[in-house]
Amino acid sequence: MFPKYFEFYNPVKINAGQNALEGIPSELSRLNVSRPFIITDEGIVKVGLLEKVLGGFKDSDIVIGAVYDKVPPDSSIKTVNEAAQIYKEQSCDCIIAVGGGSVIDSAKGMNIVISENTTDIVQLAGHDRIKNFQQPLIVVPTTSGTGSEVTLVAVVADKEKDRKMLFTSTKLLPSVAIIDPRMTLSLPPKLTAATGMDALTHAIEAYSCLQKNPVSDAYAYSAIKSVSENLINVVKNGKDEQGRFKLAVACTSAGVAFSNSMVGAVHGIGHTVGALAHVHHGMAMAILLPHVMEYNLEKAGEYYAELLLPLAGAEIYASTPTDQRAKKSIDFIKNMNNELNTICGMPNSLKDAGVKEDQLEKIAKRSLNDGAMILNPEDMDANEVLSVLKKAY
Ligand SMILES: [Fe+2]
Repeated sequence: MFPKYFEFYNPVKINAGQNALEGIPSELSRLNVSRPFIITDEGIVKVGLLEKVLGGFKDSDIVIGAVYDKVPPDSSIKTVNEAAQIYKEQSCDCIIAVGGGSVIDSAKGMNIVISENTTDIVQLAGHDRIKNFQQPLIVVPTTSGTGSEVTLVAVVADKEKDRKMLFTSTKLLPSVAIIDPRMTLSLPPKLTAATGMDALTHAIEAYSCLQKNPVSDAYAYSAIKSVSENLINVVKNGKDEQGRFKLAVACTSAGVAFSNSMVGAVHGIGHTVGALAHVHHGMAMAILLPHVMEYNLEKAGEYYAELLLPLAGAEIYASTPTDQRAKKSIDFIKNMNNELNTICGMPNSLKDAGVKEDQLEKIAKRSLNDGAMILNPEDMDANEVLSVLKKAY
């Protein structure tokens, strides 16, 4: 259905390709800043990725104000407050985030703390509650999945309350995204698989949720085609630099898509599975995606049918009767999950991912509070979420 009205906004400059890292100093000059705060995690430092980024500064006179490498796997209130404090003490004037979703979200979170001059970001959680313009933020993703380098979303964990807080505001959009294929070369197969399936979920939910629009559809469609064509190969052969690059660009495109149309119940339920059962976000997405699609079939079947073409290619699309295409798209994703399970051991059920059966009811109830549920093509109550969870179990 063509929308009566929609908005699309993405001002993030995307620098993508070989040697994109070396262009960071000139981006800092363009942004009129000169004392960056680098935020990353210990794993990134250990595998030499921070060194690669710092290598891009060797011919410049930029002075790094501080390097903070203590971001945990789930960005937390403590982390963003601590990083913001050091940023102020070291008189930095911009942020460079080098890492995956948690690092990028921590960078956005610390940016909120700095720009709003607060130590209590809980008050600002939700949609459009950030008042002030943020410090310039350059993002160098080291996974291909979250798309956070081009989104207006930040997720920060409130560990005390065992929940994830969602912040959305166009002010959270980074200044520049640096997509350099060298940064994802060392990503292990299972993480490559999980983050790639997260990107696929972003694109499929963006293409089928209630806020879909023709411009974000274009980004989502190209992302789905590229993830489908490259993910399995890259999981099998991590050194395939060209495949890695295509996958990274697809993930960024999926990020642009969902930052505008948003997502649906796969994310709504998946955020809760992550918060309560500590399942990796991408793995939760991969497991839940086909089951939520089955649930949405009546309302979103038309869109899923269209997606068989970018998912499975022209031959399969043409040979599948129109009324069976949506179901075939769902089967295609189930097959992807099975193949990824065989290749790299990615779990393909909630049970395999470590969720306890007695947690399902709590997850179902709690999922209804997640903002992503509102835009799912089909309404869901707690019993309906529970039945999806049981199928995915
Ligand atoms: Fe996601």
